Amino acid sequence: MSEISPSRPARLRRSVLSVPAINRRALDKLSSLDCDAVIFDLEDSVSPEKKAEARDNLRAFFAASPLPGKERIIRINALSSNFGADDLALVVALEPDAVLLPKVDEPQDVTGVGDRLAEADAPEILRIWAMIETPRGILNAAAIAEAGRTAGSRLDCLVVGLNDLRKETGVLSLPGRSYVVPWLMQVVLAVSAYGLEAIDSVFNDFRDAEAFAAECGQGIAMGFVGKMLIHPSQIEMANRHFGPDEAAIAEAEAVIAAFAEPGAETLNVVNIGGRMVERLHLVQAERLVHKARLIAQRSGAAATPRTDV
Ligand code: COA
Ligand code: MG
Repeated sequence: MSEISPSRPARLRRSVLSVPAINRRALDKLSSLDCDAVIFDLEDSVSPEKKAEARDNLRAFFAASPLPGKERIIRINALSSNFGADDLALVVALEPDAVLLPKVDEPQDVTGVGDRLAEADAPEILRIWAMIETPRGILNAAAIAEAGRTAGSRLDCLVVGLNDLRKETGVLSLPGRSYVVPWLMQVVLAVSAYGLEAIDSVFNDFRDAEAFAAECGQGIAMGFVGKMLIHPSQIEMANRHFGPDEAAIAEAEAVIAAFAEPGAETLNVVNIGGRMVERLHLVQAERLVHKARLIAQRSGAAATPRTDV
């Protein structure tokens, strides 16, 4: 198999569930949920009076529940707020997989936190995720993603936040996400240019499964690797949409097999059932099969994709 880009973390991020750190009942549910990642929120879902209690909850939770197999991310308050410094100190103490920075406007918001983590000797595996949810964040998405390229950068992932963007701009929540699609695509383009990943925004109306499914389908079609979620009822659908289906796996395996045929080493294009397939599709196919394997390993499924191609 040729390389899976080393800059793309070999992690599943189909379903990224946000949970208010103040909600102990919801925290207790997490170990039974099948999401790929959990965002422990200290920011907007926790009132100012409850920030300290929310931090205490996380201290107790991290001591008791490691959540094996799930990526753990703590969303902190802005460092410029009254809570940011204590939140970041908690992150350094708990060493989650990543810290999620809210309302990132410019690259310095990311590099500043990177410097603070380095000063605190936080291990390099403690990564940074950035919420892109302000007009300036969208305008600067490319520069922010580019900051992830600098040596020692911890930036892994951008997460779009449409609730804040709609609040700031007045754009309405319309079917098909009319008018905000260019902003979403700008974020996808930015992460693609600099080897990062993008997570799609939350969908608020968690009882509307049909509209949620449509938005997941739109998100994967746009190039997002997964979706930020607010409710357990959204996990299964996000996992389904952001994971490859059987037809896509079979197609990817056919591409890998075609380029593995004797004599195909020097071919850059092949014919598969009347369709031109280029060598660049091989890289995509290998990524897809790799992802399918990760999913199969996670669910312990017996029917893993073929490995003999
Ligand atoms: N994570 C884990 N468990 C959750 C959860 C979440 N995000 N949201 C709900 N649950 C649990 C509830 O605790 C409840 O558990 P129980 O059956 O043991 O009582 C169960 O799922 C059903 O919840 P439900 O009654 O349908 O919803 P709710 O009224 O408890 O919560 C919200 C609704 C929207 C307040 C809640 O889902 C929530 O806070 N979501 C996250 C919000 C957030 O993180 N915002 C910031 C990012 S945008
Ligand atoms: Mg927000």
